[in-house]
Amino acid sequence: MDSHVDCCGIRFPNPVMLASGVLGTEAGLLERVARGGAGAVTSKSASPRPRTGHPNPTVLDWGYGLINAVGLANPGVEAEVEVLKDAKARLKPLGVPLVASIFAETVDGFGLAAEVVSRAQPDLIEVNISCPNLAHELGRPFALDPVSAARVTRTVKSSTAIPVAVKLSPNVTDIVEIGLAVQEAGADAVVAINTVAGMLIDIHARRPVLANLEGGISGPAIKPVAIKAVYDLSRVLRVPVIGVGGISDGKDVIEMMMAGATLVELGSAVRLHGPETLGRIAAEAARIAESLGFGSMQDVVGVAHVEQKRHRHLDAAGGHGTVRGRGKLPHQDFHAGHLVA
Ligand SMILES: Cc1cc2nc3c(=O)[nH]c(=O)nc-3n(C[C@H](O)[C@H](O)[C@H](O)COP(=O)(O)O)c2cc1C
Repeated sequence: MDSHVDCCGIRFPNPVMLASGVLGTEAGLLERVARGGAGAVTSKSASPRPRTGHPNPTVLDWGYGLINAVGLANPGVEAEVEVLKDAKARLKPLGVPLVASIFAETVDGFGLAAEVVSRAQPDLIEVNISCPNLAHELGRPFALDPVSAARVTRTVKSSTAIPVAVKLSPNVTDIVEIGLAVQEAGADAVVAINTVAGMLIDIHARRPVLANLEGGISGPAIKPVAIKAVYDLSRVLRVPVIGVGGISDGKDVIEMMMAGATLVELGSAVRLHGPETLGRIAAEAARIAESLGFGSMQDVVGVAHVEQKRHRHLDAAGGHGTVRGRGKLPHQDFHAGHLVA
């Protein structure tokens, strides 16, 4: 079984990656995750200035996953870049790519953060746009608005030569609209999804369980939301989709890849079961793919797109071989596991 996948011109030894934030950023820990068999590691999102985050409790296991309101606590991108340089030096000999995650409260702040993390030469920059835009009158997150999301993407792209993946929020009416906007603005890939907005109540305290009241839901409860987002995005976008949300075993990885994900990130499962989880799940996914008759992991990407299969069938029978996109990308063919416009 050939486990490697290529994405954004980068070779990943396998498609199972550490998601941003769940383990923080510590070079030794990222190295441990890589040595444990991860296909790539992502750092915790860093912002231009340090942030203390929200008061405790910030993370709770509620039985079907986690609810968190960490508040993007981080030491700031200048401190982060030194850790990333160390992490890069440790990961390079292992052939495991490093993904640096950034966020900011202004469009220019994203440009600055991208410029600073680029000094560590990460293989990919992941742009977390699920944070409030201070220039917006309601402080709405950039991820909720196609114009703001595109502005951030353009600014980051013009601030770095490193490939850029934009991480989308599921808390929108139409995630594909946002995906198209960031693709047109130059994103090399999209990541779907960040946490789903939620709240739980402590019936004895008669108030929400989190000090911040609301938080982000992750873990098994959100898997179907993430699978649908990845399916919908990969049906329409020409750039690769990185899937994340509720993945906790090898079968989940295969599901996410069949839905159209080129790479799959894991967050809550790693937090609950430890850094070695990724290597174990990558090996399990490869065994399952082999048992299903696939020769390589790359071949699994997008095979669940039944519309495309139907059209490929028509193609073989002499019918038309293209699929109508959503008006914006009219003709798409299914080619080598990817949708290309
Ligand atoms: C405690 C915690 C911290 C997180 N921190 C970040 C972060 O800093 N940046 C980011 O883009 N996503 C962050 N996330 C979201 C995850 O990267 C991921 O998108 C989400 O948890 C869904 O994946 P999962 O169900 O595998 O956990 C965080 C999630 C959790 C649970």
